[in-house]
Amino acid sequence: MYKDAPTRKPITVATLAKMKRDREKFTVLTAYDASFSTLLETAGVEVLLVGDSLGMVVQGQHTTVPVTLDDMIYHTRLVARGRQTALLMADMPFASYATVEQALRNAARLMQEGGAQMVKLEGGGWLAETVRQLSRNGIPICAHLGLLPQSIHKLGGYRVQGREEAAARQIIDEALALQDAGADVALVECIPAELGARLAEALAIPVIGIGAGPGCDAQVLVSYDMLGITPGRRPKFSKDFLTGRDSLQAAVEAYVQAVKSGEFPGPEHCLA
Ligand code: KIV
Repeated sequence: MYKDAPTRKPITVATLAKMKRDREKFTVLTAYDASFSTLLETAGVEVLLVGDSLGMVVQGQHTTVPVTLDDMIYHTRLVARGRQTALLMADMPFASYATVEQALRNAARLMQEGGAQMVKLEGGGWLAETVRQLSRNGIPICAHLGLLPQSIHKLGGYRVQGREEAAARQIIDEALALQDAGADVALVECIPAELGARLAEALAIPVIGIGAGPGCDAQVLVSYDMLGITPGRRPKFSKDFLTGRDSLQAAVEAYVQAVKSGEFPGPEHCLA
């Protein structure tokens, strides 16, 4: 074995599917550079998400809308350099997947130039054909449902989604349509905890939650939020894991342990 060969097995879409079948929770955190990539992976995080949240927490923008494909490729490449075994997921940024052809071209760039192993797209049933074509081309996909931050100017605010039964049913139906089209993972943001649990039950693919309650198969947080770096008020569904601990590594390990044991998210982090 080479001196710095990975000692853990690489995490793949098959690993995540098995963890869902085995009812073993997995963890996801956002990463935007090589140092954090290594730190998070070493602490046991299975999936690194190069989120377009970088627009807000790294670039200081008000929303994720200004983030470009070149920004995403640049940060994905940095994170790829720091990882060995964690699965590397990257966001397709605003308006970069408006048509099937554009989605295919841009997802290919994220994978070939950035080193992404999975791409995440925000949207519902209207993305089914795009997901089908990306999947046929060998591109692993995460379908992001619930609150869609790239649509913030349409939505008019960061609000809980799927509160009414009709809206909840629509999210479940759209998630099922995207699963049927070939999505490998779903990610749901800002929905009532009860709907998060229903989705995890209804879908065969793993459901990653952020503000979606403890019933999801996995949890994701913006790393800057869970380390208390983000200025201003932390979202109710997040938690500062650094306060009271003496290192970033200890904070991330505590997050991993709390998700796996089912301790996080607790009732105080759940939305209704
Ligand atoms: O961009 C991001 O960080 C995300 C998370 C909020 C899930 O999409």
